[in-house]
Amino acid sequence: MTHARQKRIQVVAHRGASQDAPEHTLAAYKKAIEDGADALECDVRLTADGHLVCVHDRRVNRTSNGRGAVSALELADLAALDFGSWKDLSGSWKDQEEGPDWAGASAETSVLTLERLLELVADAGRRVELAIETKHPTRWAGQVEERLLMLLKRFGLEAPPPDEPSQVRVMSFSARSLLRVQEASPTLPTVYLMQFVSPRHREGRLPEGVRIAGPGIRIVRNHPAYIEKLTRAGHQVHVWTVNDPEDVDLCVRLGVDAIITNRPAAVLRHLGRD
Ligand code: G3P
Ligand code: CA
Repeated sequence: MTHARQKRIQVVAHRGASQDAPEHTLAAYKKAIEDGADALECDVRLTADGHLVCVHDRRVNRTSNGRGAVSALELADLAALDFGSWKDLSGSWKDQEEGPDWAGASAETSVLTLERLLELVADAGRRVELAIETKHPTRWAGQVEERLLMLLKRFGLEAPPPDEPSQVRVMSFSARSLLRVQEASPTLPTVYLMQFVSPRHREGRLPEGVRIAGPGIRIVRNHPAYIEKLTRAGHQVHVWTVNDPEDVDLCVRLGVDAIITNRPAAVLRHLGRD
């Protein structure tokens, strides 16, 4: 099925092309850019010595050969770890007949700093957007956002002109985190992530100042009328994590603005954009 005449949905690579390469690594983001993804999604956490790194879980245990909380480790500790070989061990890649061997630390599969990801985007040779998710920002009382905005400033991305589409947006399940970003940088778009529809937001209202809704695909499947409400209220809708063709078709039918997926190449193909 192709959707050539439909509204152009943005295809966002979730943790990079994370079905094909270890999530949050340079390899995964390079693959996503090669695949033609419009944007890259990443989670950010602060290390013990104040660097923002792209890691989803609180601990590094699942996605590296090390152990411990990101917040308790310094960047040098993380740089010594291999964030690639778990992909083989997980079985998800091994099930396929061919594919790269991710075992062994390399520059492509070592810990990725947000700074390095911003450099990759700057050197992509085409416009690639970034959807940056702040993880556990309440614990750090503003430090995650502060570091994030400092870094974006270095790349000239923290204060996009209000009448132009921004190359970067900040996402969070925490309304407080988004508010901190909005207060410091009012033109930077923010995305309120939702796992379920809370009574406060049932009527399609989002936290103050937030323009983009980020519902999980389960909300979209179970409450399509809610998605229509959000759209009617003038919000953009960015849905995660959309990996199956039926879900892509549902998102297209509902007119959402962005699909966040582990499989950007497959989704682009399904949309007739390969
Ligand atoms: O893109 C939003 C989505 O990534 C939120 O869930 O757990 O994958 O960070 P999670
Ligand atoms: Ca995320």
